[in-house]
Amino acid sequence: MVSKFWRILIVSVCMVCFMALGTAFAQKDVKYEGGKDGGVTFVHKAHIAKKLKCNDCHKEPNLFTKKKEAKISEADHKEPKFCGACHDGKKAFSMAEKADCAKCHKK
Ligand code: HEC
Ligand code: HEC
Ligand code: HEC
Repeated sequence: MVSKFWRILIVSVCMVCFMALGTAFAQKDVKYEGGKDGGVTFVHKAHIAKKLKCNDCHKEPNLFTKKKEAKISEADHKEPKFCGACHDGKKAFSMAEKADCAKCHKK
């Protein structure tokens, strides 16, 4: 008979594995407060669906760390940094076109 100790240990190990798998495969949405133009939700899923790899955004030199900490100003919207590294109107829709603001900012 398997002792109570081993059963608890096995169940605990399984739970830790499932949690690790969960964080490896399901990245959270990142919600930015925004200002008068409205908040912005960055959706990992939508980007991974475009065949982007973690390292396209998270490798050195870091565009983004794996923490919600980026401080993105309006001036950054015209620079090739943060979201603007791709959202330049070529690789992805622009951050500087009035018509595209609402693709990210939701009121
Ligand atoms: C690709 C997505 C994206 C697009 C397109 C975009 N923005 Fe942003 N914008 C962001 C993100 C992300 C932030 C950071 C918000 C935060 O930190 O709370 C931001 C921040 C801002 C801020 C500063 C907010 C504050 O007061 O902290 C302003 C102003 C702004 N955007 C205006 C605009 C305008 C105007 C447009 C269109 C010309 C635009 N944005 C297009 C993603 C985008
Ligand atoms: C298109 C760009 C992009 C791709 C691709 C991407 N991420 Fe992210 N990730 C971000 C951004 C933006 C943030 C928020 C960073 C910030 O605000 O400083 C973030 C944040 C995170 C966070 C912290 C989230 C939180 O709520 O604390 C984790 C964990 C993470 N990413 C893991 C991954 C993994 C794993 C992959 C690959 C499967 C991946 N990311 C792919 C852009 C990306
Ligand atoms: C590594 C490149 C890359 C970075 C960095 C990046 N994006 Fe994107 N994003 C894309 C591509 C590629 C698409 C799909 C093409 C398009 O819609 O123009 C896309 C699409 C989107 C969409 C539309 C998604 C949908 O639901 O169809 C939103 C919204 C968006 N990005 C917001 C952001 C925000 C906010 C940031 C910064 C926090 C960001 N992106 C950073 C490449 C990037």
